[in-house]
Amino acid sequence: MRILVIGGGGREHAIVASLASSPGVDHIFVAPGNGGTAQVAENVALPAEDGAAVAAFARDNAVDLVVIGPEAPLVAGVADAVRAAGVPAFGPGAEGARIEGSKEFAKALMRRHGIPAGESRSFAALEPALAYLEEVGAPVVVKADGLAAGKGVTVAMDLAPAREAVRECFAGRFGEAGQTVLIEEYLSGPECSLLVFTDGHTVLPMAPAQDHKRAFEDDQGPNTGGMGVYSPVPIVTDAEHEAMVAMMRAAVEGMAEEGIDYRGVLYGGFILTAEGPKVLEFNARFGDPETQVILPRLTTDLAEVLLATAEGRLADIELEWRDEWAVSVVLASGGYPGDYDVDMPISGIGEAAALPGVTVYHAGTRLAADGTVLTAGGRVLNVTALGADFASARAWAYEAVALIDFDGMFYRSDIGARAARGRAAWTV
Ligand code: GLY
Repeated sequence: MRILVIGGGGREHAIVASLASSPGVDHIFVAPGNGGTAQVAENVALPAEDGAAVAAFARDNAVDLVVIGPEAPLVAGVADAVRAAGVPAFGPGAEGARIEGSKEFAKALMRRHGIPAGESRSFAALEPALAYLEEVGAPVVVKADGLAAGKGVTVAMDLAPAREAVRECFAGRFGEAGQTVLIEEYLSGPECSLLVFTDGHTVLPMAPAQDHKRAFEDDQGPNTGGMGVYSPVPIVTDAEHEAMVAMMRAAVEGMAEEGIDYRGVLYGGFILTAEGPKVLEFNARFGDPETQVILPRLTTDLAEVLLATAEGRLADIELEWRDEWAVSVVLASGGYPGDYDVDMPISGIGEAAALPGVTVYHAGTRLAADGTVLTAGGRVLNVTALGADFASARAWAYEAVALIDFDGMFYRSDIGARAARGRAAWTV
């Protein structure tokens, strides 16, 4: 099989690394890829949000499957263009990707199909939005409707930042994506990501994972794309897991009833409230960094799973998992999620990756002409470790982290620490 993967983050390196271990895969192209994918696949320059260009590349290079990692090309309809060219695509078309591309669409879908979520109202103008904020008070959540590179959600504990978030949206901070604003009920509890493979009919849940969104220890500081993650999630009860899977099935069935042909990953972002799990958001793709702890535990051939999903044959597949825990720590550039420097040489990756059960996935990296790995982004590396139990996976991950260095490097030293203390750690 010849596969083209779209994207260049840690998620795509994890996808490419799993695909590369499949005996049925001969060649992998990655567009644009990163310093890690360059070591196991062929990085190519392609305008990733241009469906016609991606479809033409796939046809011209005898690609058997296109796997689309990030949300922007999905929302732009790249999967539709690839399928129209007769090439199987893993990832929903533009219609299905609205579940991530429009929070208003996702909320309406949840309402139509009885999927529990926080109360929410959407606004297309500043004054009514501000008036509604005064009515509901804080804490409250303000969301730009469209894609905002992970920066469109403000969890406001007071009204002042909520008003500011609404004003920024309507002042054009997120362009068109912020011209509709959702004001939502604040929900509290641990968060949990549950991703499923679906071909629009069959739903195969992956293991749950828990991301750490804030930049600094003890969940302080600004929101990021995710600073670390682990899987499975020890604090989730069986009843909560069943409820989350039922909601994922309801979303897939709801889209199918509405005529949406959804093939790919559906990502449910949940909050485990005292009344049971509720959906915070749906995403139309693999999570980043969730993928970096989910795929290392998957023993089923990923190429077969992705092709079966794209071809509507997921009922033929059974997912099997390693009986191990996975923890991944993100190494970031100083200043992230704000401004940061790039082109810092990175040392110690080989030594870290030589530890048992450790894989170092590249995110924002590139290879210099002499083969040196340089920083090239905010989130630079994902250091993932497998272990026989949660504590040993955490210990191996941090042992590997200690071997890696670059100027300005920072990371959270408490990935998984709260969960290790048990569910009660969320009630204080
Ligand atoms: N880990 C958050 C996301 O992938 O959106």
